Amino acid sequence: MPIKANQINDWVAEIIDLDVNNMASEVKEEVEELFSRNHVILFRDQALAPTQLSRFGKQFGILETPINQLYVHPECDEVLILSNEVRPDGTPVGLVDGGDGWHTDSSHIATPSKATILQSIKNPNVGGDTIYCNMHLVFDALPPQTRYRIAGRSGVHNVSKTINPRMTVSAKRPDAKEFYENAAKTRPSVLQPMVRTHPVTGRQSLYVSPRFTIGIDAMDDSEAQPLLDELFEYIYDERFQYRHVWSDRDIVMWDNRCLNHKATGNLAPGDIRRMHRIVLAGEEAYYDPQGKPLA
Ligand code: SIN
Repeated sequence: MPIKANQINDWVAEIIDLDVNNMASEVKEEVEELFSRNHVILFRDQALAPTQLSRFGKQFGILETPINQLYVHPECDEVLILSNEVRPDGTPVGLVDGGDGWHTDSSHIATPSKATILQSIKNPNVGGDTIYCNMHLVFDALPPQTRYRIAGRSGVHNVSKTINPRMTVSAKRPDAKEFYENAAKTRPSVLQPMVRTHPVTGRQSLYVSPRFTIGIDAMDDSEAQPLLDELFEYIYDERFQYRHVWSDRDIVMWDNRCLNHKATGNLAPGDIRRMHRIVLAGEEAYYDPQGKPLA
């Protein structure tokens, strides 16, 4: 029986009445097909334990190992806990700054992530939304001279916040300063195409983010930083965005090859947000000048 889905907009779909813990292989193929036509898919009311979440994700590819092992789930080290909760002894339950700053996951490594699967375990009463920006739409909206200026160029991506003037290191995360200072020394920058061709659809997207893109290869900062600022303005434009307001037990899967996303925060004091995240490994990003024309 085909799965049922509601389109929330042209690129976000909600799958109805599906228990993702018990998917037959043909249902999994339908989900994959729906995912190839949408950039965000949503499943409601899924009560998966961490090992079940990991098993669900592995049906769609290989899972990345989280680079910060301090916050992985004790029952499954592929599942990263994102949370602001603090134990009675003062230690954090999860990574508190996991989604801050607009970004696409793992663009700071040579083979950036294909997709992320995020499960809401405990949703706050206020705040805690995730916003997604469709980078195909952004690319299509760029003036032709800007598209010409960036086509075939590479952005410089780095995970460290200490060398990114657009980011601040969260004072709420005890290991953050040391982690990012160490990352600046041990995790070299990687180059990513500024215009990325989607490996499945062939469509072009803008592939930069304020969180990870710190420069442009072979371009002086006096020219590169204003250009990056100009590009980032498009990401902040609500016309290209979808805001997900979470309910407990929602699972959202999104395509990192053509989206930026950001956790909005703004929780009330004392309120708790807890998410479980797995990330599907991807392939090298590339730019094909023959990629599909604008939609
Ligand atoms: C992420 O950036 O992967 C997490 C986003 C969120 O917690 O809303």
